[in-house]
Amino acid sequence: MLIRKEDFPKVALSKMNDIHSNEIDIVNRLYEAAVNCVEGKETIENVDLLLKEFLQDVREHFSFEQELMEKYGFFAYPMHKGEHDNVLRELASIEKLWNDKKNPETIKEYLERYFAPWIINHVQTMDTVTAMFLSNFVHAE
Ligand SMILES: [Fe+2]
Ligand SMILES: [Fe+2]
Repeated sequence: MLIRKEDFPKVALSKMNDIHSNEIDIVNRLYEAAVNCVEGKETIENVDLLLKEFLQDVREHFSFEQELMEKYGFFAYPMHKGEHDNVLRELASIEKLWNDKKNPETIKEYLERYFAPWIINHVQTMDTVTAMFLSNFVHAE
């Protein structure tokens, strides 16, 4: 397992927590498949499908937060969006590497070294402040 839910930070908006929780499941599944694929116990096709699912989920996750920040005029919107954009650029290059070489090690290494520490830190900082601000306008259903 790449990210343990018990260790993952919670923010003040339940919908954001739901999105994060679902993303942890997806990233853990992708990680597991990449590790198994390195060992020859998982197919390239399955890793490919899971990578696509992960990329789509990350895009939706970031768009959801950005729409709310824009709607309610969050003061640090450009900074928060900037962090999202950096990761989307990294993911685009990982996707390209994967499409060119189909080496599961690339995905495994990226998730371990960059994505997992990044998402934990991002949620602890940017998302936490953002959710606190948004919770003044958006109420938990
Ligand atoms: Fe988030
Ligand atoms: Fe975010």
